[in-house]
Amino acid sequence: MGYTERMTEVELPIRVGTPDDWNTISSLLFAAFHSTMDQEASDLDRAIWEPERALVTTDGDTIVGHAAAFTRDLAVPGNVVPAAHVTMVGVAPTHRRRGLLNRMMRQQLRDMPEPIAALWASESRIYGRFGYGLAAYRLEMAVESAEVRLPAATSLARLRAGTPAALQPELAKVYDQVRADRPGWSSRPESTWAYMLGDSAWHRGGNTELRAVVHEGIGGVDGYALWRTRGSWTGGNPDGDVYVREVTAANLDAYLALWRFLLGIDLTRTVHYGHAAVDEPLLHLASDPRRLNTRFSDSLWVRVVDVGAALAARRYVAPVDVVFEVTDELLPENAGRWRLTAAPDRPATCTRTEDPADLACDVRALGAAYLGGTTLSALAAAGHIRELNTGALATASVAFGWHRAPVSPEVF
Ligand SMILES: CC(C)(COP(=O)(O)OP(=O)(O)OC[C@H]1O[C@@H](n2cnc3c(N)ncnc32)[C@H](O)[C@@H]1OP(=O)(O)O)[C@@H](O)C(=O)NCCC(=O)NCCS
Repeated sequence: MGYTERMTEVELPIRVGTPDDWNTISSLLFAAFHSTMDQEASDLDRAIWEPERALVTTDGDTIVGHAAAFTRDLAVPGNVVPAAHVTMVGVAPTHRRRGLLNRMMRQQLRDMPEPIAALWASESRIYGRFGYGLAAYRLEMAVESAEVRLPAATSLARLRAGTPAALQPELAKVYDQVRADRPGWSSRPESTWAYMLGDSAWHRGGNTELRAVVHEGIGGVDGYALWRTRGSWTGGNPDGDVYVREVTAANLDAYLALWRFLLGIDLTRTVHYGHAAVDEPLLHLASDPRRLNTRFSDSLWVRVVDVGAALAARRYVAPVDVVFEVTDELLPENAGRWRLTAAPDRPATCTRTEDPADLACDVRALGAAYLGGTTLSALAAAGHIRELNTGALATASVAFGWHRAPVSPEVF
């Protein structure tokens, strides 16, 4: 036999995870994200990992690829919907760029029971090819706290400090109260709270332990802040940093009191916050907004998995009756024409139609517009939506908007 045959690669098998896979998967993920294995952090991850929703690619006895999803709900305009929270995606460096991610993403989408999926991308160029659209943005802030004043308090702030673990039930109550009207915020089961409040050496990354205060309003606790600090001195002067994990406030009093507190922590000069919404009140409260030093970045990527169910599940701010011609290479059952009929005061319907289309787009554009933070007009200006019926774009673009900008307060 000659040696002219090309070596053909055998497709590595993909299977559903089992509880016994965890340690190998955890090592794979720590390595993929360039961290040293931390057992405490791994145990918290394990508690939220859902093996039956995990896909593992194996090469012999070794796990070389993994992708999973958390079963959580997501606040969307006017509703809360089940959303697969795609997470823990990694491929071994020895097996990269051989199509493992591609196959796992396709299988995951095919098996997904939820109408939408959401994720944070480690690199923003990865997930568009799988139909995920850029749906929410965030502002990362490095606030020069000595330069920024907030409006003066009219009464003494009632803040109560405690350990995050002891305060957790109160934090959860405020979070759940605020969440419904914040597109991009995810439901948090108990195990997710434990994960959120994780405080191992890996979580700290050289900073202090996680600290917490709650704000006591007239009707009870109505806000909280979670943060770490790191002390440092420059030229003999204090120059410490505050790393804000989360600020959740049900009203302006609580919001102001918490931010005044964070900006006033002694011996610190910079307050870092990575999850500000593009409509963050701080932008309009700070005496010198430029000193917030904001950097614009992507937050959630959304994939419409079931066009009919997804578009009917959210609310719309204006009446709309529009036919979309949708393409979807990965999930062909989404392809074709869909009529969306909606008004602000009633649930929307989205059904198949043979009527002529008003707008044509790939499913990726619907994901980008889904949370109300990316307008259809912006997508059309970028060539991602085609207007087939003059006037349809402007009407639909307004209807798809929302009064709050979407953002996710946590990386999952
Ligand atoms: C990102 C990662 C999972 C990709 O896995 P992979 O198996 O190498 O990806 P695939 O070979 O299936 O690539 C699929 C496509 O995506 C592209 N792609 C994958 N990762 C990419 C990246 N980081 N940057 C640019 N393109 C990328 C590939 O070029 C390929 O493109 P093509 O379909 O046009 O050929 C892997 O590189 C990894 O584990 N990275 C570190 C951890 C990480 O970032 N995980 C993602 C968390 S959100």
